[in-house]
Amino acid sequence: MRRVRIIGIGPGHPDQVTAEAARAMNEADYFLVPDKSADHAGTDGLLRAREEICRRHIPGEYRVVTVRDPERDRDDPSDYRRAVEDWHEARAAAYEQAMLEHPGDVGFLVWGDPSLYDSTIRVVERVLARGAVSFDYDVIPGVSSLQLLAARHRLVLNDIGTSLMVTTGRRLPAEAAAGADNLVVMLDGALRCRTLPAPSAWHIWWGANLGSPEEALASGRLDEALDDIVSVRTRVKAAAGWVMDTYLLRRLPSGGTER
Ligand SMILES: C[S@@+](CC[C@H](N)C(=O)[O-])C[C@H]1O[C@@H](n2cnc3c(N)ncnc32)[C@H](O)[C@@H]1O
Repeated sequence: MRRVRIIGIGPGHPDQVTAEAARAMNEADYFLVPDKSADHAGTDGLLRAREEICRRHIPGEYRVVTVRDPERDRDDPSDYRRAVEDWHEARAAAYEQAMLEHPGDVGFLVWGDPSLYDSTIRVVERVLARGAVSFDYDVIPGVSSLQLLAARHRLVLNDIGTSLMVTTGRRLPAEAAAGADNLVVMLDGALRCRTLPAPSAWHIWWGANLGSPEEALASGRLDEALDDIVSVRTRVKAAAGWVMDTYLLRRLPSGGTER
């Protein structure tokens, strides 16, 4: 039976690829890689990081099949779920076509861990449902950026007796307004923590380009740390050509004093 491997490769550094992921990488006949260069500035740096990971863990040649990534309709936020589902279906059609044209076992190299803010599992399920190619697939976990953030700051992500919410920048204002008090925020190119009504009531632990040579960290009371974070973020982007950041926000006990 043809095999598809969805392989978490960690957040960017070859040392953070697990032995299981490295073995799966070596078992794939080729990697199917969406080409996002048309709509994402700075993907070259990410591609280079991925290539470095392959060079380190695959002795000899490896094969990449690039698939043009379908356009995503970002103009109609009112029907966000529908827009994402349409995009997944278009991506599934493109993967299906590539798999018909290229026989063999396929590997998907997923940044971080495939279970967190990544659509590969959903899209592969759609390829199966479309019915033109049949295969078994499995998922190899990877180190997620939020785990690396926690390790770099020597943090336990849940505070004693509290829950942890993992959310996006887009949802942060609503989640904070609804009372969430311990949140990991991902996918926040706009640094939406700047819009929280009482920044002195929060502590932030922030990390950008974790695992890369340009890795940067900052932490402190949100109102005091923000200026630094904004300028470091700009510096990281200029140096690396890309920036991805993740942060933990924890509400301080009332009065906004540090613990
Ligand atoms: C599409 S999500 C993918 C998350 C990924 N599956 C994971 O487990 O980390 C991309 C977001 O993950 C976070 N991220 C990914 N890699 C990162 C890194 N090296 N440093 C900091 N944040 C990162 C950022 O919040 C970024 O916007």
